[in-house]
Amino acid sequence: MAVSVETSAETPVEPMPESAPKTAPGVRVGGLSVVYKTPAGELPAIAGIDLELRPGTITGVVGESGSGKSTLALSLLNAVQPPGRIAAGSVEIDGLGDVVGLRGEELRKARGRHIGYVFQAAQNSLNPLKTVGKQLLDLGRSHGVSDLRALVREAKELLGRMGLDGARVLDSHQHELSGGMRQRVGIMLALVLNAHLVVLDEPTTALDMITQATILRIIREVHEERGLTTMVITHDLGVVAEVADRLAVMYGGRVVEQGPTHEVLATPRHPYTRGLLGAIPRLVGDIDEARALPGRPPTLGTVPREGCVFRERCALRMDVCETVEPPTVADGPRLVACHAVEAGGAVREESA
Ligand SMILES: Nc1ncnc2c1ncn2[C@@H]1O[C@H](COP(=O)(O)OP(=O)(O)O)[C@@H](O)[C@H]1O
Ligand code: SF4
Ligand SMILES: [Mg+2]
Repeated sequence: MAVSVETSAETPVEPMPESAPKTAPGVRVGGLSVVYKTPAGELPAIAGIDLELRPGTITGVVGESGSGKSTLALSLLNAVQPPGRIAAGSVEIDGLGDVVGLRGEELRKARGRHIGYVFQAAQNSLNPLKTVGKQLLDLGRSHGVSDLRALVREAKELLGRMGLDGARVLDSHQHELSGGMRQRVGIMLALVLNAHLVVLDEPTTALDMITQATILRIIREVHEERGLTTMVITHDLGVVAEVADRLAVMYGGRVVEQGPTHEVLATPRHPYTRGLLGAIPRLVGDIDEARALPGRPPTLGTVPREGCVFRERCALRMDVCETVEPPTVADGPRLVACHAVEAGGAVREESA
């Protein structure tokens, strides 16, 4: 049975939302802090993050579980939910302005239409009572898409590229699809409205290695064909090495190092990035399994309130690291936040 697209009986679709320019937008995250309310009070999950997503690039965000990656992703859509809230900072998106200030209908329209996204655990986010096709049509209608047939064609095309039988998937309920299939449906829904900013939070975790590689290649292809600005979040360094132009390494709610992917991987400067890469025998690996890096990442309750968040695990730790949070210093296209990294980019090896 095919998904029928009966537009005539429907109430007229709302007019197209005011358009942001259909070109890759730049995104500037400035001084962004998000706190979660806990029994111990409001604690920061991310603190003072500065990050630029350059138009037309894929930025990979990596870090162990709990480093604040999903919180950052949600902030780009102003979608942090209670008990969390954006406590400070801005997220400037070309054509939309500061999304931290958007509310209600403006925000709803921005999501989906201008910002396509796959949240973590997207394989569980479909409505169990409706077929994928019905949900696709709901999505299209709620964003004022007038040509729903074209939308269905586009969805089938995307699903087909990801190795699925599009017609059959659109006709299925969530429980009829495997975790990996649902994940691909999530990616399709993120891309199908032709948003030019795409945020993918752990988009391939439910997939086997081969499928993962295929999906990443397709994400890269679609990114290039459409001229998108894309953020891919992952705890798998192999994933970013594959697709990202730039890399941001998160630890304890901070971006500790960022720069062009090949440079960061070839000559990591921050002790955490160096530890991660040293801990991974090949350039494909799951950070959570990087056993050679001693210790565990901090949690909301244990992340140091002052000094460097990485100091408990750092071999280069000095006195200043106890009390002074390292400023983020630029070195060419690289940004690093570490007292042991000199302005010229060299790392002082001796520990105090
Ligand atoms: N709803 C919530 N309530 C309380 N703490 C939360 C909530 N969501 C996330 N956190 C905490 O915020 C920190 C960052 O979480 P998250 O952004 O999910 O990190 P990541 O995606 O890198 O694993 C973690 O310490 C996590 O436990
Ligand atoms: S600031 Fe100090 S503790 Fe932090 S990573 Fe650099 S040397 Fe290590
Ligand atoms: Mg996450």
